[in-house]
Amino acid sequence: MGTVIFDNGVHKCIVFDDILGGRGDIQANQFLIMHNGEGLLYDIGGVKIMQPLYKEISKFIPPRRIKTIILSHQDPDTGAGVNYWMQFTNLEIRTFVSNLWVRFIPHLCRSNFAKEFFIGIPDKGMRLNLNGAEIILIPAHFLHSPGNFQLYDTTSKILFSGDLGTSIPPAGGIYREKFSEVADFNEHVKYMEGFHKRYVTSGKICKLWARMTSELDIEMIVPQHGHRYFKGKEMVNRFIDWVSALQCGIDLLDRNDFVIPKE
Ligand SMILES: [Fe+2]
Ligand SMILES: [Fe+2]
Repeated sequence: MGTVIFDNGVHKCIVFDDILGGRGDIQANQFLIMHNGEGLLYDIGGVKIMQPLYKEISKFIPPRRIKTIILSHQDPDTGAGVNYWMQFTNLEIRTFVSNLWVRFIPHLCRSNFAKEFFIGIPDKGMRLNLNGAEIILIPAHFLHSPGNFQLYDTTSKILFSGDLGTSIPPAGGIYREKFSEVADFNEHVKYMEGFHKRYVTSGKICKLWARMTSELDIEMIVPQHGHRYFKGKEMVNRFIDWVSALQCGIDLLDRNDFVIPKE
């Protein structure tokens, strides 16, 4: 089921956070942005959610009106289903992914999908026009993938942050609750820490991202994983400050992490 997180009549942002009902693979959110009857998908997810996702998306927009797919990076949970969309929806559809990954993603597809269906995003990012609405793909390299882009929607002022901001609460309880905003930041940190410390590359990158992001007018930050997002300037700033101070990835590794295994 889709949760509408922004709607001004012409422009809508919808999150699908529970397509498989909490079963199976790691939970991931898929995003639909619509403007004046045209749609864009960000991080469409893996192969096995494609049929139910297609059905849910159809409740908001005819899938043929979706002309753009953007993948934050190369991981299977972001875009392994891309072949399905090309086959069953719209051959005009274009998939944007980092220049680093644009030659890798076609491995997920049938051989007859030509190269022109995939467009590389340059390292510095780019702006796209969604039927009159401006979308900015902002660099978020090494957070966690080396070629990684977040999506800033200038209409809703939502930053879709990809894997940054991922929360992985324990199964059951809070995990199955409705998609909703973070109420208590300090309480929420424990669900984010593990992922960020291991998957995100370094504190240097986090600081660079925080510096860049402070130039944007952000009302919400919505990550690819977890049922929680950051809403309102105060919560958005708390998250950015938390990222800015993170020690993670290579900051935490030392020689003890590089020892030949004995068993
Ligand atoms: Fe990832
Ligand atoms: Fe992910």
